Amino acid sequence: MIEVKGPASRVAVIGTGAIGRAVVHRLLAGGRDVTVWNRTESRTTELVAAGARPGRSVREAVSSSTLALLTLKDYTAVQQCLTQLDMGLSGQTIVGMYTGTASEARQAAQWVTGLGGQYIDAGIQASPEMIGTTAATILYSGSRHAFEHHKTTLELLSKPRFVGQTPEAAAVWDLALFGVWYDAQLGLLRALDAVREAGIDVAEFSHTANTQLGHVVAAIAATVSEMQQATYPSGPADLTEHLTVVRHLIELRTGRPLGDGGLPEVAARIEALIADGRGGEGLTATVG
Ligand SMILES: NC(=O)c1ccc[n+]([C@@H]2O[C@H](COP(=O)([O-])OP(=O)(O)OC[C@H]3O[C@@H](n4cnc5c(N)ncnc54)[C@H](OP(=O)(O)O)[C@@H]3O)[C@@H](O)[C@H]2O)c1
Repeated sequence: MIEVKGPASRVAVIGTGAIGRAVVHRLLAGGRDVTVWNRTESRTTELVAAGARPGRSVREAVSSSTLALLTLKDYTAVQQCLTQLDMGLSGQTIVGMYTGTASEARQAAQWVTGLGGQYIDAGIQASPEMIGTTAATILYSGSRHAFEHHKTTLELLSKPRFVGQTPEAAAVWDLALFGVWYDAQLGLLRALDAVREAGIDVAEFSHTANTQLGHVVAAIAATVSEMQQATYPSGPADLTEHLTVVRHLIELRTGRPLGDGGLPEVAARIEALIADGRGGEGLTATVG
């Protein structure tokens, strides 16, 4: 059985930037005994006045708590704080609460578990003012045991969602969602740029773009089912037809400020599938 000490009535918050401050206020309101540490000490004054204990070092703040939340800018900051923990972390849980990559999550987990502690990685899908409201979701992955143990404390911050027992699951989920947004938004920007360049009214065009985005949303369940079953029906167009359109799009986007969006790689993938005799399949086959 993994050792996780007592209820997390004592929580350390390392990093009191925008997210860290919101987290501290919420934990204090939830009756937790909170110790704070921040690189720039003056940024903890307001929190200490609100009832938090000041930690003189990362080591001191973490030692005083069973749960430590690293609400820091990035993995470099996380690394710099973790290296100050030259001590055993048996019974303690460290949560990396920052936007990072899969390999960063794995490295942080390795460091913490190497010291005998439990590691949870977190992806924050909330702005500071949303922390503690039902509008906030925070994704967690890593030690399920530690997550379950500290769930009531984590529930003070958001609707917690445990997404996997690998340390990187939350980071992958978080970044993949960012990817959905960037791909859709940049696709829209490329389209608006192309039509404006051609002298077409962008406002009028935008209504049809709206309908087009609706087709993507409407097809999500079917796409997931195709991936899960590894069957790729052609749907409205097969790969041979898609290749023609993708090549036309590459030409339309040539020389434009946002480039071709990686479509030459997509075309090469479709060509390879067609050469393999799979031209009659649908677009989901490209990731099959
Ligand atoms: N704000 C949002 O809306 C939002 C939404 C989703 C996710 N996130 C993610 O949440 C994380 C925190 O965001 P935030 O908005 O709270 O950022 P922030 O306001 O810029 O705060 C960053 C914190 O990291 C500390 N820090 C930076 N470099 C450090 C280092 N080398 N060593 C020690 N401490 C260091 C800062 O300390 P100092 O005070 O000394 O500079 C500060 O406490 C980020 O990964 C961000 O991407 C933020």
